[in-house]
Amino acid sequence: MRSTEELLKLRAKHVPKGVFNILPIFVSKAEGAIISDVEDRQYIDFAGGIGVENVGHCARRVVEAVQQQAQKYMHPCFHVTMYAPYIDLAQKLNEVTPGRFPKMTMFANSGAEAVENAIKIARYYTKRPAVIAFENAFHGRTLLGMALTSKVKPYKWGFGPVAPEVYRIPFAYCYRCSYGRTYPACDLRCAEALNDFFVNQVSGDQVAALIVEPVQGEGGFIVPPRKYFKRVKEICDANGIVFIMDEIQSGMGRTGYLFASEYFGVEPDLILTAKSLAAGMPLSAVTGKAEIMDAPHVGGLGGTYGGNPLACAAALAVFDLLQEEHLIEKGKKLGQKVRRAFEQLKEKYEIIGAVRGLGPMLGLELVKDRETREPAAEEARKIVQIAFENRLILLSCGNFGNVIRTLMPLSIEDDQLERGLAVLDDAFSRVRRTG
Ligand SMILES: Cc1ncc(COP(=O)(O)O)c(C=O)c1O
Repeated sequence: MRSTEELLKLRAKHVPKGVFNILPIFVSKAEGAIISDVEDRQYIDFAGGIGVENVGHCARRVVEAVQQQAQKYMHPCFHVTMYAPYIDLAQKLNEVTPGRFPKMTMFANSGAEAVENAIKIARYYTKRPAVIAFENAFHGRTLLGMALTSKVKPYKWGFGPVAPEVYRIPFAYCYRCSYGRTYPACDLRCAEALNDFFVNQVSGDQVAALIVEPVQGEGGFIVPPRKYFKRVKEICDANGIVFIMDEIQSGMGRTGYLFASEYFGVEPDLILTAKSLAAGMPLSAVTGKAEIMDAPHVGGLGGTYGGNPLACAAALAVFDLLQEEHLIEKGKKLGQKVRRAFEQLKEKYEIIGAVRGLGPMLGLELVKDRETREPAAEEARKIVQIAFENRLILLSCGNFGNVIRTLMPLSIEDDQLERGLAVLDDAFSRVRRTG
């Protein structure tokens, strides 16, 4: 096998630096929550391919489903000759997503593409131009995706002009409330601000869609108050605005629910899935009210690879696995364990300003001072680095880069979890010592 050094040299020569890498290793094998590299080092994986491996790396059932599908046909293209796995998966998503109304589903390849399609569909249906997105939002790296995404560097900087008719409002980020209020005394001022937006920015009847992550992912694992989305949805309904939940990171059991929308008791008009939907096969979906989904004309939606048979077969196996292995339940318990451990870390380390998340989608927001809440981004970077040196793969996030997040497979074994959490604890203690 070629060495890391050799591959790094080739990578530097042949692949542009813009295509980022968080860690300087090359994988040789991945199984469950363990990644092995070409030097035969083993790592505990708290990143899961950025939230893609909720069922674990190379879950046997998924691998077999892909292998069996590959022996039959790989790509007739749904737009040329149809195939059953596309229909079966659409039906499954229509059944399991929140909302007791007739639904339809279309497939694409990446999260960003699902976002793009959802906005196309909402604009077509409403015949309106404007889209509302949030501060701290992340919706992908395509032209429209980056316009909807909040953080400027590295996502938008130098790549403009970004798509027009995208408007941004503050999110319910209680730890750093844009209105300086405290929940619940605030009476959800941030949701009510939407009505001010219609007065001051764009009239409600010009807005096609509002797109939002139920738990913001890249933006810092931010969970709004439970009643927040019901109020936002009411305001959208009152103005004929399509309410789109981007569950690309939060979906497929990540939050202790199949979809985080369930926790908030909200039924989105359109719901977006990708990442853990197909456990590593490139697949994304837009699922939603049949009336909205079915609005665009024939030929207006699609793409060569959307709903590729291998990816659909993988996703169908993922749904089987979630059910048979009780992974949602396991995820809830995992979330409780990690939260307990994180609360203990918070008691030990002043640098942890907040522990937050839903189920096992948990984050630690690091601050230089608990009073001023100045973001501690450099410290977060060091913790990721020290964890890596001790064989734990960890990710940070947040618009200020100061949040440590966990996206480990829901199937992670207890001793792997314990070992990973011990490495994290050790990393915090070292950052404290080195200052
Ligand atoms: C909430 C959310 N939306 C959209 C995307 C974009 O997905 P992709 O990278 O597959 O285009 C991501 C990716 O991290 C995401 O977390």
